[in-house]
This record gives sequence, structure tokens and C-alpha cells, in this order.
Amino acid sequence: MSYQIAIDGPAGAGKSTIAKKVAKIKQFIYVDTGAMYRAMAYYLLACDVDPEDIQAVERKCMEADITICYEQGEQAVFLNGKNVNAFIRTEEVGNMASATSKNPKVRERLTLLQKELAANNNVVMDGRDIGTCVLPEADVKVYLTAGTGVRAKRRYHELAARGEECSLQKIEEDIRERDAQDMNREIAPLRQAEDAVLIDSSDMAIDEVVQEILDLCR
Ligand code: DC
Repeated sequence: MSYQIAIDGPAGAGKSTIAKKVAKIKQFIYVDTGAMYRAMAYYLLACDVDPEDIQAVERKCMEADITICYEQGEQAVFLNGKNVNAFIRTEEVGNMASATSKNPKVRERLTLLQKELAANNNVVMDGRDIGTCVLPEADVKVYLTAGTGVRAKRRYHELAARGEECSLQKIEEDIRERDAQDMNREIAPLRQAEDAVLIDSSDMAIDEVVQEILDLCR
């Protein structure tokens, strides 16, 4: 049986930074499920699909073959055979991912891939519905959150460090909208699993959160 650590939470809570560190220490693979939804969104954007057009999203998502592989320990997401890691980290793709991830066909396709990965590898998997839907039997479940203002500032610094122009106010608005969309959708909404441990990282250093998760694994 594989060992499964599930980390869910809203945008900007620090999930990927923390999950990557935990995975490295435990020598597990890190599965960034948001990147899969982003790759799908990137394809739908390229096809000019209206995210509210359910049928168009369903039809087009069947054309997107998403796979992941590991290059020097880093997850690379492939869309129809092409590595799209460099194109999926924009706010535009993130917002499209939030809008299109409510589509049942999109979720069905990506959830299957995620379950397969976790069945065959020890994983740290992060996302919105890992503890509730994808890996309900996970060994450790964490719901990682932080205040909206803190998350917006983190995202702002992340984008600024990459040289992307951005406004803190716009990022905070996007985060609020994304939270509402991810928490209120019908299928697999973002919520804390009953057996998940809540960690609020607002006033915590990254390594403190990592340590808390490692302690939960003992
Ligand atoms: O974690 P992220 O910002 O890369 O995720 C982008 C969007 O993808 C997020 O707003 C909602 C969706 N998502 C999801 O619905 N389920 C997941 N397990 C992961 C992400």
C-alpha cells in the first residue's frame, strides 16, 4: 500500500511550497493537482472556449491528454505531448482553471489520473478536494489556510519576483472570487475533510508548517 499525504486549501495558502518540502524529506513524489487543472484551462483558453458553456468545455476537454512526469524531482505537466509548465502559472490561467474545474467531465478525467498516481507511488498531493474526494483514505490529511490579505501578499511577491506586473488589490479581489468559486461549486467543493487537521499558516514560517505535517506522519 502506498502512503498518502493530502493537503487541501485555498489559493495562496502555501500548499505547493510546503508539499514540495515534505515530499523531498519523505522521498515521496509531489503531485500538484492544480497544475493539471491549469494545463486543462490552458488548452481551453487556447481553443477560445467560454468557461460557462458546459457542452463546449465537455467536448473540448476530451481532446486534452494530460500526463505528468518527473524531471529531476520536479513535476512536469504534459498537454498533448508538450511540456506546458512554463505557460500555466499566470493569473489568467489560474482564473480559467477555477472556472472550468467545476465541470464534471474535467474533474472526472483529472481525478482518475490523480488516483492512479497515488495508487502506485507514495505521494504528497495538494489541491482542493484531495482529502474529501480523490484520496478519502489518505494516511494524513491537512487543511492549510491563511488570511485573505496574507495570501494576496504572498501571491503578489511571487508574481513580482517573476517580473510580472500586478496590483495587490486586483490579486486580493481575484483570490476572493476564486475562493467563492472553489468553495461553492456543486461537485467536489473546497472544504476541510472531517478528519483533516487544520493549519493556519498566517503567522507561521514555512518550516514550522512542514514540521507540523511531518509530526502528523509519525
Ligand atoms: O492550486 P492552483 O491555484 O494551482 O489551482 C488552480 C485551480 O484549479 C483552483 O482555483 C481550482 C482548481 N483545482 C481544483 O478544482 N481541484 C484541485 N484538486 C486542484 C485545483
